[in-house]
Amino acid sequence: MKTKKTNQVFTPSKPSTLIFVERDWKINNQLVDALNTPGKQIVVFGHSGCGKTTLVLNKLNQTYENYIITRCMKGMTFENVILDGFDQLDNFYEESSSSKGLKINPKITLQYNEIKSSISLFEINKTKTKNNISVLPPQLTPQRLGHFFGESNSCWVLEDFHKITGENKTKIAQLMKVFMDMSINYDELKIIAIGAVSTARQVVEYDNELSGRVSEIKVPIMDNDEIEKIINKGEKLLNIHFSKETKDKIIKYSCGSPTICHQICLNICFNELVYQTSKKKIFFDTTHLDLALEKYLEEKTDTLTSTFDKAVKISNGSILNLPKEIIKQALNLKKEFFSFDDLINSKLIRENSVKSEKIINELCTLKRGEFFTYDINSNKYRFNNLFLKNFAFLTFKDEKDELDVAPKRKDLKVIERLLNIIENDINEDYEFYIENL
Ligand SMILES: Nc1ncnc2c1ncn2[C@@H]1O[C@H](COP(=O)(O)OP(=O)(O)OP(=O)(O)O)[C@@H](O)[C@H]1O
Ligand SMILES: [Mg+2]
Repeated sequence: MKTKKTNQVFTPSKPSTLIFVERDWKINNQLVDALNTPGKQIVVFGHSGCGKTTLVLNKLNQTYENYIITRCMKGMTFENVILDGFDQLDNFYEESSSSKGLKINPKITLQYNEIKSSISLFEINKTKTKNNISVLPPQLTPQRLGHFFGESNSCWVLEDFHKITGENKTKIAQLMKVFMDMSINYDELKIIAIGAVSTARQVVEYDNELSGRVSEIKVPIMDNDEIEKIINKGEKLLNIHFSKETKDKIIKYSCGSPTICHQICLNICFNELVYQTSKKKIFFDTTHLDLALEKYLEEKTDTLTSTFDKAVKISNGSILNLPKEIIKQALNLKKEFFSFDDLINSKLIRENSVKSEKIINELCTLKRGEFFTYDINSNKYRFNNLFLKNFAFLTFKDEKDELDVAPKRKDLKVIERLLNIIENDINEDYEFYIENL
């Protein structure tokens, strides 16, 4: 058995390659077809951490010769994005084209190098760090950039594109159009924009002219089988074994999030000092899982606190806290999936139904910490994960019992209590009801 490092197998904070699990064939085909269709632009969207980047990178590796990734950051302008792409193409134009087996048109190479020398290194660095730069060398037009990408047989991945805002977004949509038109000359030329949002239009704002030529790919959260496959693949590569009960629990705790699954499995291995493929099979049971969860929560309580605060934030002076009421009612339902109509038992929600509906949808977005996830097929909502759900429960309970503060960060007692109620939740011994505000 080939030895693998544990942190290359379970990779909670980077795209997975060693244990990549194929996604639903429909999404898979949609993406692969779009990649293989010259001129088709691609928008990939879905909740944070659902596996967008992993899916795109794995499919690109299977289908594409070259690609360039630009990671978008808050405050980046259209010009910053263009320069980043231009800068990264350097690899193709720097080494002599023959050494890479690429036949790049010498005229284009010359143009590339001319533009490159007109942007001094200093300027490139400056533009990368400073916001609101709106100057590009005049020769660096979208068409030129298209030629540079096209000649290198590369497509362009714009990661976290939802972070780009305003007119900069519109300009990228125009760039997509240019790339689309230029695909007559270059089959591979395309832009793949990835964003952690719930609609494709929130990623890129494009008009109707472009819409038929953009493939909108929604990556859903994982189902239990997919999560189980991650665990099974990890077991094989590392020569470890999770007991059936442990595996079932990891699946429940993951709530469809591959990120949580990778993190819990990694914690279990690290806690037992399994840093690489074991020579002798190692067995894990729920005691190991409990320790791993404790570690997970110790690291996460800060995030849980800030996500919860984000979710229930209301404008100053407002007395009604509708987001809180919605979360409370959702907890009281004791259902995994619920619809908006399930919540109207609450008088407050009933009387403010338009506003409440708007807020429940906001609760599925980054604006309110993606507290809920929404499934378009069933038109139902659910808590993003059990950790958030029960953290909210604990907070409400403490507020009600008039404990001085809501759960404090890194408070061991909180972690212990949280673990207990999540355990109850998993075993469906949910014994709580929170009174109306
Ligand atoms: N198909 C898959 N098979 C195995 N692991 C996966 C798969 N998809 C995602 N993962 C794992 O899940 C985690 C999140 O994946 P990824 O970064 O691709 O998600 P994302 O949707 O791009 O997240 P973000 O919104 O934060 O950019 C990573 O740890 C990755 O290793
Ligand atoms: Mg990503």
